[in-house]
Amino acid sequence: MKVGVIMGGTSSEREVSLLTGQEMINHLDGQKYEVIPVEINSKRDLIEKAAGLDVALLALHGKYGEDGTIQGTLESLGVPYTGCGVLASSVCMDKDMSKRLIQHAGVPTGEWLQVSSLDELSSATVQQLTYPVVVKPNSGGSSIGTQVVQEPSALHAAVEAALVWDEVVMIEQYIEGEEITCAVLDGRMLPVVSIHSNAEFFDYTSKYNDGGAEEQVVHLPADLHKRVEAAALTCYRVLKCSVYARVDMMIRDGMPYVLEVNTLPGLTRNSLLPKSAAAAGISFANLLDSIIDLSLK
Ligand code: DAL
Ligand code: MG
Repeated sequence: MKVGVIMGGTSSEREVSLLTGQEMINHLDGQKYEVIPVEINSKRDLIEKAAGLDVALLALHGKYGEDGTIQGTLESLGVPYTGCGVLASSVCMDKDMSKRLIQHAGVPTGEWLQVSSLDELSSATVQQLTYPVVVKPNSGGSSIGTQVVQEPSALHAAVEAALVWDEVVMIEQYIEGEEITCAVLDGRMLPVVSIHSNAEFFDYTSKYNDGGAEEQVVHLPADLHKRVEAAALTCYRVLKCSVYARVDMMIRDGMPYVLEVNTLPGLTRNSLLPKSAAAAGISFANLLDSIIDLSLK
């Protein structure tokens, strides 16, 4: 079976994607698959490079990769691909849209508003924010352009910095608590991983540098575990995810608050999902087998 590892791409997470792709190449079973590295360097690359693949194993992150556009192109080309479909990819890439659905499903998520210009910062709603807040590009990933803002005087600069990455910027209530992440594979939650970052928050450096954060599988008290699982699986279902996804949350006062859902979570050697899978007894190679098999079903 010809497996094309589709990686790189044109988003701000290109470097992360190349790491995910390389990790996949290192672990794919060479007896089972003919592994074809496919580096995407421009939006025009995919069509000729995908031809002839039996499956496109998506290692892309961010815009033009994780947002439904590549998925739609592959659907049109008739090339099977791994992970979530067009709708889930597209909705989850838009933090505002996915949080609306998450909130509508009754799953707690921090209050937020969006702005698309610095002028909007003088509006009454922005003036009434309670600090700290988190400022992030609406359709970003890996915390690129994201900052925790402690006081009103720092908001302008943070929004300006986030607007470099996206036309829409989200200003979200900062949930003080314990950060956890929940991998979901084929509709089942894998062991929960807790994150203790060495930085102010789980930023790009602490995500990808060795030793940037301590990430451990945690055994939550049974009732909290149930609430976390219900939140993760509800998000997976209402956002119409399939195959696999990763739901990020903060726990405050025994209540999980969903931050976001990642439809192509990182699979670098420092990433969270492989740790969670390993704790469930699923090796990286088996994880890739499952992702491919489930996607081809
Ligand atoms: N956006 C990165 C790749 C992640 O969620 O793991
Ligand atoms: Mg993300």
